[in-house]
Amino acid sequence: MSLQLGDIAPDFTQDSTVGPIHFHAWAGNDWVVLFSHPADFTPVCTTELAEAARLKPEFAKRHAKIIGLSVDPLEKHDQWLADIAETQPSALNFPLLADADRKVSTLYDLIHPNADSTATVRSVFIIDPNKKIRLVLTYPASTGRNFAELLRTIDSLQLTDTFKVATPVNWKHGDDVIITTAVSDDEAKLRFPEGWKTLKPYLRVVKQPQTV
Ligand code: BEZ
Repeated sequence: MSLQLGDIAPDFTQDSTVGPIHFHAWAGNDWVVLFSHPADFTPVCTTELAEAARLKPEFAKRHAKIIGLSVDPLEKHDQWLADIAETQPSALNFPLLADADRKVSTLYDLIHPNADSTATVRSVFIIDPNKKIRLVLTYPASTGRNFAELLRTIDSLQLTDTFKVATPVNWKHGDDVIITTAVSDDEAKLRFPEGWKTLKPYLRVVKQPQTV
């Protein structure tokens, strides 16, 4: 059965480019972005890993760690990382799991046999500090992901957790947000003393509180 939002992200121990990773212990109290690739030495994955490395400081500002996965062994990862350092603007600066025995891929349902019988799909899990899965995305192998969207989602989730607000369509950091329906007007007066705009009783727009 595939993992669903709200499930606890399965724990595991697996080899990686920085040594064995005990996943829950490695995550600690941070948010985690766990993402899988079809395979080493593939062009789209090469660009994705470099972009994730470039954005690592942005994830860190949000108390989020990043970790990649592909089903190739460590020796291959090491050769591939040298290629990434040679050809891309950023070298790898986060762990890449070597899931040659498919342990993590099986736990996280990352092999979709009707797409490819051996390669992992291009999936992402955003996991919160309580180890709950808060986002699942699966992209086609030929489409590189948008890592800025992952930062945007973490910003949105952290705003919801901290301030009980939701983010509207195409929201960008700094845009107005929406007071969730779980918040009464009385509670909203305490939370947002500068006021908000009521378009409908269920649609109350407020200036975005500051996070990062
Ligand atoms: C890639 O990462 O470049 C890729 C992997 C599998 C299929 C197509 C592209």
